[in-house]
Amino acid sequence: MNGTMEEGKGAQSPTAKGLDRRALDYSASVGYDRRLYAYDIAGSVAHARMLGAQGIIPADDATQIVRGLEEIRDEIEDGKFQWRDDLEDVHLNIEVALRERIGDAGARLHTARSRNDQVATDVRLFVMDSCDRAVDGVRGLQRALVGLAEANAGAVMPGYTHLQRAQPVLFAHHLLAYFEMLDRDAARFSGAHGHADELPLGSGALAGVPYPIDRESVARELGFSRVSRNSIDAVSDRDFAVDFHAAAATTMMHVSRLSEEIIVWSSDEFGFLRLPDDFATGSSIMPQKRNPDIAELARGRTGRVYGNLMALLTMLKGLPLAYNRDLQEDKQPLFDTVDVLLPTLEVMAAMLPRLSLDAGRAASAADGGYLLATDVADYLVGKGMPFRDAHQAVAELVRYAADQDKPLADLTLDEYRRFSPQFQEDVLSLDARSSIDARDVPGGTASGRVAQALDEAKKRLDGAA
Ligand code: ARG
Repeated sequence: MNGTMEEGKGAQSPTAKGLDRRALDYSASVGYDRRLYAYDIAGSVAHARMLGAQGIIPADDATQIVRGLEEIRDEIEDGKFQWRDDLEDVHLNIEVALRERIGDAGARLHTARSRNDQVATDVRLFVMDSCDRAVDGVRGLQRALVGLAEANAGAVMPGYTHLQRAQPVLFAHHLLAYFEMLDRDAARFSGAHGHADELPLGSGALAGVPYPIDRESVARELGFSRVSRNSIDAVSDRDFAVDFHAAAATTMMHVSRLSEEIIVWSSDEFGFLRLPDDFATGSSIMPQKRNPDIAELARGRTGRVYGNLMALLTMLKGLPLAYNRDLQEDKQPLFDTVDVLLPTLEVMAAMLPRLSLDAGRAASAADGGYLLATDVADYLVGKGMPFRDAHQAVAELVRYAADQDKPLADLTLDEYRRFSPQFQEDVLSLDARSSIDARDVPGGTASGRVAQALDEAKKRLDGAA
């Protein structure tokens, strides 16, 4: 290659040469992988500096390469860079632009490198950043949950099993369940970061490179804490992306469960929550509507994130070692998942503090009916009755009350006594509050335990920040 200005132009560029137009259109990825430009340039800068320092290319060429790449980065950021579909991908676009700019020196950049280890490096850097941003997003949502829990610290609601009212709980306790799920999600993203944190560059096409390169210095410059140990694995491995997708899928599943609760709780049937005006939409024909679109979309987009995980796993499952072009298909699902996940975490964190709880309605749902049946059974246990017998007696009591169409709270002591002589006056003072505070065990819903859990949650967030 000698003509410097010509090299990048259509017919003589590395890929446009000889490729059928349809084949080229089919294989081009620059339309979306240009999103990796900053990582690609960072990787090339580190590689060029190392080549110069090791005397593999002239030091002056390395300096020119670095300067040229920095100019290209500025051009891209200013929107002035001309992306060319005929150059296939982000890597060739940048490399050809560099050669047009600095000539022969630019043609030395690809020494001791292949696009296979180059793209693996770019995708790892992208995944590491995405993991960090996901952890930030998760922390933001955890903060919003703690804020909403604190703003409604004393509020009582029915806890559910089978979506049937089960036992009274504190609203804050219910919200802190999501805090725990998200805490595990943050750990999963940190784990995915750890798996991505390994430099593939230096693996070449698959077997390593025949130059005295210094992989450790490239790793340090790019922020990797170690270099890959097997060149064949390094160019064909996308497990770290699977880990990221899996963490994202689990996080979205959690957000979707929260969304589902926001949706049902803001229905007239529940009436526990009121959505803020700026996070609810009306209907074009039904003036009374306040639709929970944000929560519905978060729930709906969860499917896309699951699909992206499945797309990646399926793409990988039949691949022989080492690099195969199929691997190019890792990018769109990855970008899509990031584009669903991060805005979902952000919008949910913005909406949560604006939800208003109808504490009266939630409390009366927890007080009415038969939610205290377990407490009545525990009351009899307190009087010495074995739990199974107490359970039986209270089951009959509840059946009786239901036949009378009465909630437990409307029964008289005489009615209680029909089912066990152990019942005394004090059974009439059982209520949602006493039921909650009786559950004074680590992890339970008693007010003191929840206050402590809130404090610990805040400390964990501060420690994690
Ligand atoms: N665009 C390609 C990808 O994303 C870059 C690597 C191309 N390597 C190759 N041997 N064709 O995977």
